[in-house]
Amino acid sequence: MKIFSGIKPSGIIHLGNYIGALRQWVILQDAHECLFCIVDLHALTVRVDPALLRRLTLETAATYIACGLDAKKSVLFIQSHVPPHAELAWILNTLAKISELKLMHQFKEKSKSNPENINAGLFDYPVLMAADILLYDATHVPVGQDQQQHIELARELARRFNSIYGKTFVVPEGMIPPRGAKIMALDNPAKKMEKTGSIGGYIALTDTPDVIRKKIKSAVTDSGSDVLFDEKKKPALSNLITIYHLLSGLSIPAIEKEYQGKGYGQFKKGLSDVTIDFLKPIQQKFSECMGDPGALLRILEKGACAARAQADKKMQKVKENIGLIA
Ligand code: AMP
Ligand code: TRP
Repeated sequence: MKIFSGIKPSGIIHLGNYIGALRQWVILQDAHECLFCIVDLHALTVRVDPALLRRLTLETAATYIACGLDAKKSVLFIQSHVPPHAELAWILNTLAKISELKLMHQFKEKSKSNPENINAGLFDYPVLMAADILLYDATHVPVGQDQQQHIELARELARRFNSIYGKTFVVPEGMIPPRGAKIMALDNPAKKMEKTGSIGGYIALTDTPDVIRKKIKSAVTDSGSDVLFDEKKKPALSNLITIYHLLSGLSIPAIEKEYQGKGYGQFKKGLSDVTIDFLKPIQQKFSECMGDPGALLRILEKGACAARAQADKKMQKVKENIGLIA
């Protein structure tokens, strides 16, 4: 398998990002060729202050490393350091249909929440994402549930290109984790946990123990008091149990047993302890990385060099096949 994935530096990384994406990546890098990207060009689709974008880009890289990505095992790089991403996106734009881009849920949602800035980049976002993936012949793309539709589009664009210009791209597959592919907001179990959602809805990987306790304490629960996993009848609690399960490694029945007859209050205290313990070493490593931005930038430059070598080779082939004089 060849793995590609990325996170956009558009906010603080939260438990949903970790559970849906990063957790898979750390496991995959031990056995597969992996590239993990900080997709800064994607972050530009929402208006962002330049100084903030620079900081979030470094923080996202530091988070990758803090969560266990290892530059010796994976290629870690910044999207804008490898110009072929944008170049291939342009070429794929000539194959992508306006009608199919109009169907993208993320575009529809972002247009609704940001009506004053429905820019062409926001519309084109999934084509750039397809370019990210196809440039490296990635066979598998580990992401959360919300990206499934974008992966489908990448697959369709690869097939379309191959059928018009001859076999050029690998048709990639999404890797959506069986559990935790859609972690819901703590303050609203009907909405997914999001970087841009309300503060009480997400737990940032950098939240302090006090903040974590407060957020979990005020998390919405369901009626009743039994700690039971039942996504239909107890969606809020099932979300919290999923987080507990994936951070502690304890099975869901073991968690139910542990809190039998103890009520939501005890369970929330337990979940806070599990989360704080889990995040402690990540936060320590994150601070170390952010304390030495020079070292971080050297890792990212080395990654960009490795990625550029692969991307340039692929672009050569794309240009030949499409009739551009390379
Ligand atoms: P984003 O925050 O949109 O940049 O997402 C980065 C990665 O985290 C993608 O693979 C998403 O699918 C994944 N992700 C984002 N939010 C969640 C969530 N609430 N639950 C699970 N995965 C998520
Ligand atoms: N669109 C993804 C998100 O919002 C981020 C992303 C950009 C990505 N390019 C990618 C994910 C390529 C996987 C592969 O989360």
